[in-house]
Amino acid sequence: MIKVEASFVEQMFSLKDKVALVTGATGALGGAVAKAYACQGAKVVLSGRNLKKLEEIKAEFTAGNLACEIVSGDPALESEASRVVDFVATTFGRLDILAVCHGYNKPKDILEQSVEEWQTIMDADLKSVYIISKLSAAQMVKQNSGGKIIVTSSARSKMGMKGYTGYCASKGACDLMVQSMACDLAAHGIKVNSINPTVFRSDLTEWMFDKESAVYQNFLKRLPIGRLGEVEDFVGLFTFLAAKASDFLTGGNFDATGGYWAN
Ligand SMILES: NC(=O)c1ccc[n+]([C@@H]2O[C@H](COP(=O)([O-])OP(=O)(O)OC[C@H]3O[C@@H](n4cnc5c(N)ncnc54)[C@H](OP(=O)(O)O)[C@@H]3O)[C@@H](O)[C@H]2O)c1
Repeated sequence: MIKVEASFVEQMFSLKDKVALVTGATGALGGAVAKAYACQGAKVVLSGRNLKKLEEIKAEFTAGNLACEIVSGDPALESEASRVVDFVATTFGRLDILAVCHGYNKPKDILEQSVEEWQTIMDADLKSVYIISKLSAAQMVKQNSGGKIIVTSSARSKMGMKGYTGYCASKGACDLMVQSMACDLAAHGIKVNSINPTVFRSDLTEWMFDKESAVYQNFLKRLPIGRLGEVEDFVGLFTFLAAKASDFLTGGNFDATGGYWAN
């Protein structure tokens, strides 16, 4: 007897009525993930520091007949992150999925970067992930019905790069923190994974998409897939890691590099 139920297969990617918090929702990836979750039937809360931009995105959702709630806050500040998680719990009564999509970089040679600037990167890309994940996990534990945490790391988590002492260190630490959180939270049924993309299109990376440029050509030498990423390339993995289909997976750092790590 084959042990796969049709009802399980039909529902395994469904996010219907799940409550999802997306950080960095004002950004390229966060906006795409939030919209994908909403299209899947999840109740979505979009978060970021920029309230005006959140309001614009909410208007875009509404124009497309998609519901969402918004809440501003800095995930690196415990009091603000706490307010964000409380807003989700008060608005929808629970939190099932946390998608961490915020991030920041300011590449600079170690000899030129100030310690303060380096610390800003570490706070934006590591401390904030710890704080928002910890507070979200505490809410999920209270509910006693598991949960999913998905952290956006980077292909740079496992490889250095000139000018990237802050970014590579924070993303490398994120991958290990995800593994450790997975161990801490397994007993509560909470699954924690990271995704590790290479370059994808956003306001900050648009300049790299000039096909004639040396930067683009150099990337392509290492990219078997033959192109840089688009945010749509990652929403499938974000959906998978939020849904029942990935219930056995935790502590994973998922290659979303188009083959960059393979080459
Ligand atoms: N784009 C790429 O090629 C690429 C490649 C690999 C990994 N990633 C990672 O993917 C994630 C999303 O990147 P993206 O390209 O979508 O970036 P993005 O468009 O710049 O959006 C990132 C969002 O993060 C928030 N943010 C910026 N600085 C912050 C800070 N200091 N503290 C807290 N939040 C901050 C901003 O929202 P508010 O101002 O509203 O807070 C911003 O909208 C990041 O973690 C990034 O490191 C990106």
